[in-house]
Amino acid sequence: MGVRGLERRLFVVATLLVVVMGGLIVLTGSTMKIHPPSNVETIDSTQLHLTPEFAEDHLGVERAEDGTVVARLVMARYMVHPQEITLPAETPIVLRAASADVLHGLHVAGTNIATQVVPGYVAEVRTTIRFDAVAKIGTPNADGSVTVPLFCNEYCGLGHQSMWGRVRVTRP
Ligand code: CUA
Repeated sequence: MGVRGLERRLFVVATLLVVVMGGLIVLTGSTMKIHPPSNVETIDSTQLHLTPEFAEDHLGVERAEDGTVVARLVMARYMVHPQEITLPAETPIVLRAASADVLHGLHVAGTNIATQVVPGYVAEVRTTIRFDAVAKIGTPNADGSVTVPLFCNEYCGLGHQSMWGRVRVTRP
């Protein structure tokens, strides 16, 4: 096989890879609700403690008037505040997170909650947690709820591996 033939093969393989990966994006987006983050909302990461939304006593979970559950988190090297939140399963939830310093990642095991938390922006994930999915991998509690880990999945410094929290998911 000459150089031209080799080049043609490489071209076909590269094109196939692009088509397969593009197809996977469409497939996971339409059937598994896996989407790139779409919320663009800026915030001053150095002043989070002074903002109405991310001041320390406003963090955690609250239920909005329309029944939506809103959770607010601050990620900072090397902690997640608050370290444990309780979320109901099979209920629309909005998770909002901000970084107080560098780039972090927010991932909740057993759910499709996975987003970068970029300093200067508010990361927002809207989803519904499926109880059967977290029950498969979580730690059961005496009250019937299940606890799953929440962790940082972007390398953010020497303490990255100890940056994690917990989400207690209650039965619907
Ligand atoms: Cu925060 Cu890794």
